[in-house]
Amino acid sequence: MPTPVPTPVSPATPGPESSAAKQKHGLAAGSAAEPPRPDWTIDQGWDAYTPEEHAVWKTLFERQTKLLPGRACDEFVAGMRDLPIGAEQIPDFRQLSDVLMKRTGWQVVAVPGLVPDEVFFEHLAHRRFPAGNFIRKPHELDYLEEPDVFHDVFGHVPMLMNPSIADYIQAYGEGGLRARKLGVLDKLARVYWYTVEFGLVQQKDGLRIYGAGIASSYTESVFALDDPSANRIGFELERVMRTNYRIDDFQESYFVIPDLEELLSLAQVDFAPLYERIQGLPDYEPGTVLATDRLLNRGTGRYHRAKRDVASATPVAPGVSATPA
Ligand SMILES: [Fe+2]
Repeated sequence: MPTPVPTPVSPATPGPESSAAKQKHGLAAGSAAEPPRPDWTIDQGWDAYTPEEHAVWKTLFERQTKLLPGRACDEFVAGMRDLPIGAEQIPDFRQLSDVLMKRTGWQVVAVPGLVPDEVFFEHLAHRRFPAGNFIRKPHELDYLEEPDVFHDVFGHVPMLMNPSIADYIQAYGEGGLRARKLGVLDKLARVYWYTVEFGLVQQKDGLRIYGAGIASSYTESVFALDDPSANRIGFELERVMRTNYRIDDFQESYFVIPDLEELLSLAQVDFAPLYERIQGLPDYEPGTVLATDRLLNRGTGRYHRAKRDVASATPVAPGVSATPA
């Protein structure tokens, strides 16, 4: 079964290499690349990073930290401030773990890329965040097929300093192990996607980003908050469990929680009766707006409609996919 563990993909234009020519990591690299340890952890290999790789980190870090004030939630800003994460070098996971462990009992472990579902959930259930140790190439700054060290560390780790998120993600790991056995992982993965990866939170000065997929993306940090195209809808658990998401582009809908404590109550929910109740009910498309939605704003849908129009108008050569990047 292909992994449903969410992988945000930036929608920006691909770099000069074709997808087929890109180097794959972790699970995507095939069984020959599987690391020897059953939990897929590897040494981060911090000493092996090249000056060019640190320079890519610096470029990404600097432009994102300029963009995020007034966009990222207070907890993200506080987490970033208290962690040994800076512009000059790719962070050392051991130093991150020292600080995280004291604050919320989490640690960051290095993996080569995506890992199998059960491995991912086992790590989360034990407060270990598996982070890819590789970094994208200089021509791929806005194009990410697999989560790299910038997405995993810059996007996720500051939020793990917050006790509510820390408990919520552990509970997600435990829930993932159960959902996998029940065959309902797709429903649970949507909850992760629309919270941990693409969540927005209402704060005193307006909507703010707490999802790592947005916080680590230069373009989506703007789109998610400012673009009139997107729907912004009050989070409702069953609604989200039935909503498909975009993996190849900006989200068409973002779900908004009133505060991060909302995630703590989500962590207490018994999902088993929910799975039963929604079993067999139809899924919603990513851009669907329901009469029962608590809408913060209804999007125009213009961005995605324009891309669909282009895709349907473009003649397709035999053997070439028309799916927009
Ligand atoms: Fe992520």
